[in-house]
Amino acid sequence: MMSFTNLQYLKGFGNEFQTEDHRCPNALPEGQNNPQKCAYGLYAEQLSGTAFTAPRHENKRSWLYRIRPSVIHKPFKPVPNNFLINNWHDCLPNPNQMRWKPFKLPDAQKRVDFVEGLHTICGAGDPKSRSGLAIHIYLCNISMGKKAFYNSDGDFLIVPQQGALNIKTEFGKIRVEPNEICVIQQGIKFSVDIEEASRGYILEVFDNHFKLPNLGPIGANGLANPRDFLTPVAWYEEFDEPHVIISKFQGHLFETVQPHSPFDVVAWHGNYAPYKYNLKNFMVINAVEFDHADPSIFTVLTCPSNKEGTAIADFVIFPPRWAVQEHTFRPPYYHRNCMSEFMGLIFGNYEAKEEGFLPGGASLHSMMTPHGPDKQCFEGASNADLKPVRVADGTMAFMFESSLSLAVSKWGEEICQTLDAEYYKCWESLKKYFNLNEA
Ligand SMILES: [Fe+2]
Repeated sequence: MMSFTNLQYLKGFGNEFQTEDHRCPNALPEGQNNPQKCAYGLYAEQLSGTAFTAPRHENKRSWLYRIRPSVIHKPFKPVPNNFLINNWHDCLPNPNQMRWKPFKLPDAQKRVDFVEGLHTICGAGDPKSRSGLAIHIYLCNISMGKKAFYNSDGDFLIVPQQGALNIKTEFGKIRVEPNEICVIQQGIKFSVDIEEASRGYILEVFDNHFKLPNLGPIGANGLANPRDFLTPVAWYEEFDEPHVIISKFQGHLFETVQPHSPFDVVAWHGNYAPYKYNLKNFMVINAVEFDHADPSIFTVLTCPSNKEGTAIADFVIFPPRWAVQEHTFRPPYYHRNCMSEFMGLIFGNYEAKEEGFLPGGASLHSMMTPHGPDKQCFEGASNADLKPVRVADGTMAFMFESSLSLAVSKWGEEICQTLDAEYYKCWESLKKYFNLNEA
């Protein structure tokens, strides 16, 4: 299991990049995309991430200059997969608060790679009509080696929780450690090598690509700054041995063999390319006098729906920060939401629940399902001395918040065996303090 070192990246969110592997200077054609013959005998291939006719500010595509075109492969055949689903019809609705203990890594005697280790936990919608999302947990203990994967259905936002991911992509190499995230868009082939048994979360969106949220009165800077997003530089391998290519298509896996490595892109240019982001770079903005900003103030990336201001999914984090509000109950408030909230914990202790919500676990508070701090948190924060204090040091919790009502898979409900049946009890002992004499 190898680890990538000394990787180079291009900086900026959604830029019009251009990059060549250093072994092949001038591999990119000048002034055109399709020369009669490409330099070094390369093939030109376009990868479209939006309709050809999408407006200019939305339009995403890249040009790849590669040793062989992607089209050389045997016919695809279906691959059985029990735990990756996009069909929610068999999932019985469950409006309860749900919390999962850490998801179990594969037994050491079982060899499971990143793709084999994808388990859908919840979701909604349909990749055929390109509307909706799925949330997956990956649990793996071997590298993919000469196997590559691409998702025909949508984009993956990958949140490693345990173990660094060394990801070969058609656009170059990315290394993503816990507390970093990466986005690999629809159609981009990648292969994940690991260094230890690894676990993490994936938000898959079908409708649109992720964007930086608008900042409104915050101004031109803040939250996730565009320059901190990193895209790989071109890198190729010339490796004429069979490689397995797996496509997720309409929610099912299909496999084929290609007689060469798919990571043979010598140079590319365009604005459709994978990227990573280190969550420590998030510029935190919050209330500095009293009360709370809503958690949307912590949005890193958003995948918009067609309804203005309403996301198919937001990726929100709860980073280390100062809490300074006066005469305020500082932890998250009790609430009911018209959105679905799936949370995970990368490391540390989440402030609203010090126990039970653990790194590598998760929670789901569905539409209009009440939730909020547990008793211990309520009692502590209601009586705390309100000096400025650090919150969430050594902790990174996150939320996938969606305007869709999410169904929970059978794997999530039963097979994973980590659903905490006692979760509701953390609120049961909240006391009645009502007293007419205490205004
Ligand atoms: Fe919430």
